[in-house]
Amino acid sequence: MSSAERAVARIDLAAIERNCARLPKPLCAVVKANAYGHGAVAAAEAALAGGATWLGVAAAGEAAELRAAGIGAPVLVMGALTRDELRTALEADADVVAWTEEVAEAAPRMHVKLDTGMGRLGTRDRELALRLAARPNAVGVMTHFATADELGDDYFPAQLGAFREFVAEVGREELVAHAANSAATLREPESHLDMVRCGVAIYGLDPFQQDPDPHGLEPALSLHSWVASIRRLEAGESAGYGRVWRAREPTWLATVPVGYGDGWRRDLTNNADVLIRGRRHPLVGAVSMDNVTVALGADTEVELGDEVVLIGRQGDELIRAEEIAKRLGTINYDVTAGLLPRVRREPFR
Ligand SMILES: Cc1ncc(COP(=O)(O)O)c(C=O)c1O
Repeated sequence: MSSAERAVARIDLAAIERNCARLPKPLCAVVKANAYGHGAVAAAEAALAGGATWLGVAAAGEAAELRAAGIGAPVLVMGALTRDELRTALEADADVVAWTEEVAEAAPRMHVKLDTGMGRLGTRDRELALRLAARPNAVGVMTHFATADELGDDYFPAQLGAFREFVAEVGREELVAHAANSAATLREPESHLDMVRCGVAIYGLDPFQQDPDPHGLEPALSLHSWVASIRRLEAGESAGYGRVWRAREPTWLATVPVGYGDGWRRDLTNNADVLIRGRRHPLVGAVSMDNVTVALGADTEVELGDEVVLIGRQGDELIRAEEIAKRLGTINYDVTAGLLPRVRREPFR
């Protein structure tokens, strides 16, 4: 038996720290959704060590989690809140985002959100936004971009223009004006204003779904499992549910104990590689809840207990979250945030 676990996400905290150090300041590090799957508390501490001075979350409970861990930095809760959630956010001494009179009145410190085109949260009513921003408990004004990751589009500059006009009209220098997500931060210095709010970039993921290297960003998450079983299949034999893959010739097959119950998605069926002994091997057969199967070829040196890398580097080979995202027809955010609690997070430096 191996001492390895089913699946472990190793989180390079020094990489998160360096990514934050490289990003513009002031920086609000967005650690919602368990820090995009990286583990909220450890990621937040690394971001603060890298020079972030604010933490952004979506949910009140996420603010409470940071406080329970002893994190004292300013926290901004960016999502919509029920009354109970608002209370939780305020008990956590967090700032909240307001676009209604009700929330603006209830919160000691709030950031007024103008919807300049995301069409989701925030108000489109400029008069209301101006009124809220004139209140003494307004400490910030903000908006969020819909297309900052689409290079060359003209919607992003239009949103930025609308927000800058609003900020000028509010005319209160003491308010923190913030708008830029990672893509805007990397693409347009004019969007930085008084603070940037970066999520995906602090984890070393590319908001443009390409390669984080040219931005000087280092991926922090790697996903590991192990070879739990090896068998030889003859031509025509199959592996897994539905027999959706059959060996064309005699081949060795490894079983790796990770599956969609870990967030390794079923759409990766016959549609991903993994690394073993520094080489790529194809995932074959259906991804099941708890296991995947990997074709090793007619001859193999792979042994029981060998490490399997599903995301990350092994030897000279590299599988990025962006590659998995492309195979799934999704984005890297969805790949790392989609890793389920059964995957233990192992932070290291
Ligand atoms: C309001 C808000 N600001 C900032 C971010 C950070 O975005 P990104 O991860 O693209 O940097 C998010 C995340 O989606 C968000 O919802």
